Amino acid sequence: MSIDELYARAGVDGWRLRKAVSLLSDGRWWTLADVVRETATSRRTIEALMRALPLEHRDQHVRIPTEQVKHYNISISSSISDPVSHLVDTSVVSRLAELIAKAPRGRSALDHVSATPETVVRRALLLGARFWLPGSRLLCVGDHDLTSLAVRLIHPEVEVMVVDIDDRILAYIDEQDLGVTTRWADLRLGLPASARGFADLAITDPPYTPDGVGLFVARGLEGLRDRDEGRVLLAYGASERTPMLALKVQHALADLQLLNEAIYPDFNRYDGAEAIGSAADLYVLRPTTKTWPAVASRVDRLATAIYTQGPQSVESSEAAPPDLGDYAPDLLVGDWPRDLLPGVPRVRLSTWLAKPYAAHVSRVAIHAPAGLEAALPRLVLAARDAEVRVFGTASSVRLPPTPDAITKRILSNSHGKVANTWREGLVAELGLTKNQARARIPAWAGATALELPMHRLTELATEVARSREDEDPGAHEV
Ligand SMILES: C[S@@+](CC[C@H](N)C(=O)[O-])C[C@H]1O[C@@H](n2cnc3c(N)ncnc32)[C@H](O)[C@@H]1O
Repeated sequence: MSIDELYARAGVDGWRLRKAVSLLSDGRWWTLADVVRETATSRRTIEALMRALPLEHRDQHVRIPTEQVKHYNISISSSISDPVSHLVDTSVVSRLAELIAKAPRGRSALDHVSATPETVVRRALLLGARFWLPGSRLLCVGDHDLTSLAVRLIHPEVEVMVVDIDDRILAYIDEQDLGVTTRWADLRLGLPASARGFADLAITDPPYTPDGVGLFVARGLEGLRDRDEGRVLLAYGASERTPMLALKVQHALADLQLLNEAIYPDFNRYDGAEAIGSAADLYVLRPTTKTWPAVASRVDRLATAIYTQGPQSVESSEAAPPDLGDYAPDLLVGDWPRDLLPGVPRVRLSTWLAKPYAAHVSRVAIHAPAGLEAALPRLVLAARDAEVRVFGTASSVRLPPTPDAITKRILSNSHGKVANTWREGLVAELGLTKNQARARIPAWAGATALELPMHRLTELATEVARSREDEDPGAHEV
């Protein structure tokens, strides 16, 4: 197809083609990925455009040859995608670039695609340009992008909490010691108690399926303490070729009765995700009075197949639940066939993690299908002292070590606040006063064991040992 035919077919949306042509004729050498990102246009569209242009090649780079440029005389320099570019401080961008470069690598099964350092910085700047931040709290609903770190660097007055399923990311954020609170969560199973009603603002870059967006935004809403003035910021984008997909996602937002206060087009840029032009819009969503009943009635139904790729994606189907063999549980946790063991009580995985089971049980069978690996140690710890068997997954469960009585007590009281059980343990074993004991306990222990990142759980026994000897937890790296 000729360039004129492509322009004609694109109609008013043809500005993006002309923008690509203006880049390719500016004398510089361009990779396909950079043209995709710069124009926020899908790879397929850019490839079709490139086939219609007389390009010269050098390594992985292309451009329109100098002598041909006069035939493509177009200049499109302005863009409406950047309301905060004038505020960007390049030294913060470099700092973020370093942090992102050293961060744990993305996992496609969790729909990780890194946002660019500029994007993360601009998200933080937009928060400050649009909202009054002193005294405010931000909840990052998933944070592989490290938006939390950019916000702490640029707006240290904001209290920031991150919830994420990926223990590596939580450990990395803790390592930076920038004052971010981290909590483990599988959002399909719920938001940790300490994150509920925590924030004034929530920000999320969720898996880009209607259920993924609906679920992460609903969890962000559950994380708000200010139900009148709070906002949820959402990064979401689709290819310019698939408006129906974007419409489905917008329906998921409408189902939550959210007001769309703003959509900044192409605000977020990524390394990768070329199918959607390596770009996503930034939504500012405001809850209405109708939002809260909608969240309550929908959130559990959304928690199904949320990912775009991998074994847990919308397209993969669930295998049949496994056989119990000769195990005779007195409690079934998770999804089991209806006719299995009539009379034996059942609990959903989300309820199991959210609160201690009321009755005494001694043998628990948990069905944890593939994709719930990160939740496994937590599902087992939630059983407290009961015997547990896990079915439905091939992976083994690694539990944190419990060499001493206090650590054992903390982990077997897994739904209780770690700091409380720890304090009681120090008081009982060392005869300290409550205040003396409290002074020996690090701030991160203000969560339940089920919410703590894995590295905190693995280090727990060492930290407990230290607290037996030491009076000041601040004197150590924790
Ligand atoms: C879905 S990814 C989206 C892409 C984004 N640009 C990124 O790479 O971070 C966003 C974050 O959500 C986290 N996440 C994915 N599935 C989750 C789940 N079920 N519960 C909690 N967090 C989850 C990921 O670990 C990641 O940090």
